[in-house]
Amino acid sequence: MRYAAITGWGMAVPERVLTNADLERMVDTSDEWIVSRTGIRERRVVGPNDSTTSLSAAAARQAMAQAGLDIDDIDLIVVATCTPDQFLVSEACLVQAELGGRAGAFDIGAACAGFVSALAVGSQFIQTGAHDRVLVIGADTLSRFVDYTDRSTCILFGDGAGAVVLEATEQPRGLLSTVLGADGAGYKHLYIPGWGAFVPETAELFPEYRPHLQMNGREVFRFAVNVMGDSAAEAVAKAGLSFADIDMLIPHQANQRIIDAAARRLGLPRERVWVNLDRYGNTSAASVPIALAEAAAAGALQEEDNLVLVAFGGGLAWAAGVVRWGVAGVARRVPAVEVAVGAGV
Ligand code: UT7
Repeated sequence: MRYAAITGWGMAVPERVLTNADLERMVDTSDEWIVSRTGIRERRVVGPNDSTTSLSAAAARQAMAQAGLDIDDIDLIVVATCTPDQFLVSEACLVQAELGGRAGAFDIGAACAGFVSALAVGSQFIQTGAHDRVLVIGADTLSRFVDYTDRSTCILFGDGAGAVVLEATEQPRGLLSTVLGADGAGYKHLYIPGWGAFVPETAELFPEYRPHLQMNGREVFRFAVNVMGDSAAEAVAKAGLSFADIDMLIPHQANQRIIDAAARRLGLPRERVWVNLDRYGNTSAASVPIALAEAAAAGALQEEDNLVLVAFGGGLAWAAGVVRWGVAGVARRVPAVEVAVGAGV
């Protein structure tokens, strides 16, 4: 039986920091409100020369270096994003233009649930024997679509990218179970209207160039609290494990209260939940792989640890999975190197 071990990880966020104090000067809000309702203190936002592509490429380079591979070793690039730099071509091809190589390259669109969905897709290509090494990236630059006069959304989102390298092994490592779901009927609770091919009223509705993200926060909150816990619990059961077997929860970083509810559902204390939303806010498809890369770089993940990855967002879509950490059984041609995983592009 083949599995898809995670052998490399990386992350990148823009250098520009947007603090709660900055937002206090932009909209009618307060640091106290933002921290108590969300847990977010600051987020990173792209500058004029940063892009989904530049962040993705930086995270991918770290992940490949960590795995001891270069781009010519990679068979497939899968990028999860809802903010590609262009419609045509795929974000994955734009990343490939930066990195080189001849790997297959395509995108996955599942908004904030995108990375966990892409991890499932990439893992399947390895499990079936179709490919041996897959680069999976989650990246978004939602700040480009946030309305910085709308206090109910502009406080939440930041930009970033995270990446992992998957490699074939006969040992049970990598994704052991997957739970994917969506409720398309609820799509208007979190979406960017007017950014697509079918926009007959665009000119009238959006005289400015860019449409903006719109969200019904309370509805999304209600949905998220239920679906995070339920799908995480389902992923644990599908992997044939119990909550006591889970070493670390790596949740989508949207709201501390939503994360706490998911952790309670799995019976996990705070120290076994990786949280970084205070520093990055909600980075959409990048949030889970950034958290994973940080946890790995901090030495918080040990060989054979069972991790629960769980995310929710626009769609409304959700995705969860159990990952067994470690590289046992991976055939290495080049020894892996320790790479400083960190911020900045
Ligand atoms: O990847 C998925 C992305 N989306 C999410 O995860 C969103 C999930 N939802 C949430 O995280 C929360 O619903 C929010 C953080 C967005 C909002 O928190 P809430 O506790 O649900 O607040 P609310 O929407 O019920 O608003 C409560 C009050 C309202 O005032 P009134 O009507 O009670 O007078 C809002 O106008 O808070 C007001 N408010 C704010 N006040 C200060 C909304 N945004 C702000 C703000 N600063 N930034």
